[in-house]
Amino acid sequence: MVYTEIKSGIAYAEEQMSLESSPILLEIIRKCSVYKKVKILDFGCGFGGHSLSCSKINNCEVYGIDIDPNHIMIANKLKKKYKAKNVTFELRDILSDPLPPEDQFNIIMFNDVIEHIPVEALTKILEESRKHLTANGKIYFGYPPWEGPYAAHVYRAIKIPWIQYLPNKITLKLIKNNNQEIIGYIESDLIQAYNGLNRITHEKILRILRKVNLTPILRKSHCILNRLRPFKDINFGFFPFKHLITYEILVLSK
Ligand SMILES: C[S@@+](CC[C@H](N)C(=O)[O-])C[C@H]1O[C@@H](n2cnc3c(N)ncnc32)[C@H](O)[C@@H]1O
Repeated sequence: MVYTEIKSGIAYAEEQMSLESSPILLEIIRKCSVYKKVKILDFGCGFGGHSLSCSKINNCEVYGIDIDPNHIMIANKLKKKYKAKNVTFELRDILSDPLPPEDQFNIIMFNDVIEHIPVEALTKILEESRKHLTANGKIYFGYPPWEGPYAAHVYRAIKIPWIQYLPNKITLKLIKNNNQEIIGYIESDLIQAYNGLNRITHEKILRILRKVNLTPILRKSHCILNRLRPFKDINFGFFPFKHLITYEILVLSK
């Protein structure tokens, strides 16, 4: 990886070093403050911005894992830059290299991660995660659902919402014509990133959760219509409005 890529990765992670845009996650962490130590697993931690912000909260200890060596390299540089203490980053694929059973977490977060993992692997990862969740622990998902306007992860480059609904040939051609490199050893451009998406929706997640015996306890759908004051608190997670959902938060327990 070249110096400019590392620099832009660090800058991107620094933008995410505030949890203000994740109030539900912050609330879950606060509720854990009764414990002496709050252990958080940041699954698919990427460049580590969220891990670092959690590690600054009093009694939190964060363990960030990712399968991409470039991402972990940037996360460790960021840790060094901020002299962060309560955080560890590690390159790890928990399916081939499972965590020891004694590693138990109060919170396991998947922020912008679940849409990048093939459904079969995701099911196994959630089964594994369940084993490492404390009795009152919570799993946190934040993800853009496949029906939404920006689900293809290429809006910044192409400026066309719902591009995933065009015939696949046309979508791929549009991405190819506007392709950009991204920081990643496993996915290093927009085409690879698009092809790596698992087209996850809330309904598909519910089917997976039934298999792995995890229970949704909170759902917050961020819909474009929620920006209008009278619709502020309405959950639009149903047809046809679910196509206007930009982001979903789901909290799970055992
Ligand atoms: C879009 S990034 C999100 C990074 C970070 N959570 C954030 O919010 O900035 C998705 C991350 O998931 C990681 N990832 C994908 N599949 C994974 C797996 N099976 N195990 C661990 N990490 C994975 C990718 O390498 C990537 O860093």
